[in-house]
Amino acid sequence: MSILDQIKEVRLEFKSDLQSLSSKNDELDPLRIKYLGRKGLVSNLFNQMSSVTADERPRVGKELNQLKIDVSKQIDRLELSFNNDSNEQSSIDFTLPGDPKPIGSIHPLSNLLNEIKTIFMRIGFSVFQSSEIDTDFYNFEALNIPKHHPARDMQDTFYITDTVLLRTHTSDTQIHFMEKNDPPVRIIVPGRVYRNEDISVRSYCLFHQIEGLYVDRKVTFSDLKGTLDYFAHELFGNNVKTRFRPSYFPFTEPSAEMDVSCIFCKGKGCSICKYAGWLEILGCGMVDPEVFKAVKYDPQKWTGYAFGLGIERIAMLKYGVEDIRLFYSGDVRFLRQFK
Ligand code: PHE
Repeated sequence: MSILDQIKEVRLEFKSDLQSLSSKNDELDPLRIKYLGRKGLVSNLFNQMSSVTADERPRVGKELNQLKIDVSKQIDRLELSFNNDSNEQSSIDFTLPGDPKPIGSIHPLSNLLNEIKTIFMRIGFSVFQSSEIDTDFYNFEALNIPKHHPARDMQDTFYITDTVLLRTHTSDTQIHFMEKNDPPVRIIVPGRVYRNEDISVRSYCLFHQIEGLYVDRKVTFSDLKGTLDYFAHELFGNNVKTRFRPSYFPFTEPSAEMDVSCIFCKGKGCSICKYAGWLEILGCGMVDPEVFKAVKYDPQKWTGYAFGLGIERIAMLKYGVEDIRLFYSGDVRFLRQFK
C-alpha cells in the first residue's frame, strides 16, 4: 500500500476510534499513545519517509504533517471538553470575569398599584378596566355632571372632539361596568387619567387612579368607612389614624375625603403635612341616586359607595419622592432606587 493510502487508512481508523469514545478522560491517553507515541501509527509513517521518492516527498510530508496536527488538535479539544463537562471550544478562557447583565426593577407606580390591588382583592373586589379615551357622557354626563356644570372646572379636560376626550378620572368606568352588569357590584379600577394642568413638582398631565365601587342592598356609610379604614391600615401600617371630612363630588352624596395621620411626623405636624398632622388620601362617598338612574339600577333597591385615589400622590408620600415628574422621566438613577 502506498504511503498516501496508509495516511488515509490511519485517518479513518482515528475517526472510528473517536466515535467509539464514551467521553471519559482516561480513554484519551491510550489514544494519544496509539497515534502520536514514539511507536504510534503516525510516527510509524514518519519513519517510512526515507523510502519516499524525492519528487513525492513534499506532498507526502505535507499530508503527514497535517495528519499529525489534526490528530493532536482533536485529542486536545476532547480533553478540554471532557474536563469542562461541556462542548466548549478550547478558545474560551473560563477564568475571565463574567459579563454582568443589568437587572431592571419594577416601576414604583406599578409596585404600588399591585400592592393596592392585592389589598382590595383580599376582601373580594375584582379588577375591571375600560378605555382611557372616552366620551363626555361617561366621564361627565352619566356621573351627574351636566354640560356647563361648574364641577367640570375641577378637572381641566383634554378634548379630542366635541364629545370624545381623555378621561379625567376612573369614575367613568363605574358607568361602563354598571351598564353591562347587574348588581351586586364589587370592583376596583386601576388606570391612567389625564388632566390639562400646568406641569409642576406636584402635578402632571397624566397620572394613575384606583377607583372602587361597591353596590348591594343596604350598603351604608359605615361599610365605606370600615373598608377604607382596613385599606389605610394595610397600606400604611396599623398605627395610622384615619378621619373623614365632608366634601363634594357630583356623583356621590354624601361625599367625603379621607385623611391619614401624617406618616412622617405621626400627626405632630411637619413640613410635609404642612403642620396639619394629616395627609389627604382619597375622595369617596355614597353613590348618588342620579348615577343609578343613568345605568338603570333601581335607587330604591340598591345603595353603594365609591372611592377614588391618586397613585402618584400616595407613592410620593410612601417613597419620599419630592417631584412627580420623576415617575415619568425614565431616569434609571431614580428607578434603580426601587430595586
Ligand atoms: N373621581 C374623583 C376624582 O378624581 C374621586 C372620587 C371617586 C370621588 C369616587 C368620589 C367617589 O377626584
